[in-house]
Amino acid sequence: MMRNKVILITGANGEVGHGLINQLSAIKDMPPVMVLDIRGLDKSMESKVYETIVGDILDNGLLETLVSEYEIVTIFHLAALLSTHSEFRPEAAHRVNVQGTVNLLQLAVEQSRISGRPVKFIFPSSVAVYGMPDIATKNAAPPVKEDEFTIPTTMYGINKLYGEHTGRYYTHHYRQLADVPQRSGVDFRSLRFPGLISATTMPTGGTSDYAPEMLHAAAKGEPYACFVRPDTAIPFMAMPDAIRALLEIADAPRERLTRTVYNVTSFSLPAGEIADIVRSAFPSAQITFEPHPQRQGIVDSWCAQMDDSAAQRDWGWKPEYDLNRAFHEYLIPTIRKQYT
Ligand SMILES: NC(=O)c1ccc[n+]([C@@H]2O[C@H](COP(=O)([O-])OP(=O)(O)OC[C@H]3O[C@@H](n4cnc5c(N)ncnc54)[C@H](O)[C@@H]3O)[C@@H](O)[C@H]2O)c1
Repeated sequence: MMRNKVILITGANGEVGHGLINQLSAIKDMPPVMVLDIRGLDKSMESKVYETIVGDILDNGLLETLVSEYEIVTIFHLAALLSTHSEFRPEAAHRVNVQGTVNLLQLAVEQSRISGRPVKFIFPSSVAVYGMPDIATKNAAPPVKEDEFTIPTTMYGINKLYGEHTGRYYTHHYRQLADVPQRSGVDFRSLRFPGLISATTMPTGGTSDYAPEMLHAAAKGEPYACFVRPDTAIPFMAMPDAIRALLEIADAPRERLTRTVYNVTSFSLPAGEIADIVRSAFPSAQITFEPHPQRQGIVDSWCAQMDDSAAQRDWGWKPEYDLNRAFHEYLIPTIRKQYT
């Protein structure tokens, strides 16, 4: 039976999913997009996808039916519980972020077995995989490479780090003790994102959300109490760059890739400086700082800057939105228009 070729996006109804669907639907000669999300897909997105499946990545029966009906060529596995949510519900986070990821990897193995072709598996990881031991080390560290300081303190960070390693296992070492050596057929590629800031969607449940929340609140004329100290610095990236990075890593020739996980980043600045930029664009913005001890602790454990030289070298990664462009050409004008 000929099966229709599709790209599968899990967690497609989230912030990154919406951006990815918009981009993919604009590219010619792409296989159609099938989405799977426990919440279903916003009406505004429906016309841009081929099929919407409302379901749980923990539902193995459902996943099995997908490979029996379609040929999945690429999986963008975005479904996850984000960092703040994961601290409130660590066991649920483990199920979704770890078991859910293994379920999708198994689906990729099964798909490759049927089609005889490798299945690309794109996995967004996070700056949350880092665990800086203390603030002094964080502030003194040069931009952090992929394999440094990976001792995360959050369930989310631990789950993401495990996802990265599991993907590497499926790509290079799957069933190494099996009598007949077999390759999994999984071509896993992961990007470690910094905090993402979108002009069009509001984030929920992330611990870098103070930056977008500050901007959106100011544009709406609402007061905002930032949950970290003004001197708190982490890396960020504008959403269009994050989407482009996902498409570029998916497209990169396998032989150019020397790793299965790559840092990608754009700019890094303290929360107080974000507040200054927001106030200069929206002079009536009412921003206060009321650090939340636990959320502050989480952000303090993330590195201030990530080193993305491996991505630059191997597949030509370069952000298009530096600090200035991100705020003055993308975020501020788009957000201003949205609320006026
Ligand atoms: N937004 C960021 O700043 C950021 C930074 C680094 C990495 N990431 C990663 O990028 C990916 C997408 O993030 P996002 O910001 O779009 O998150 P989001 O919370 O906006 O979207 C996640 C989506 O996953 C879905 N989902 C959750 N559990 C599910 C389940 N059991 N079965 C099916 N669907 C389920 C949710 O309904 C939601 O639509 C995640 O893997 C996240 O960890 C995001």
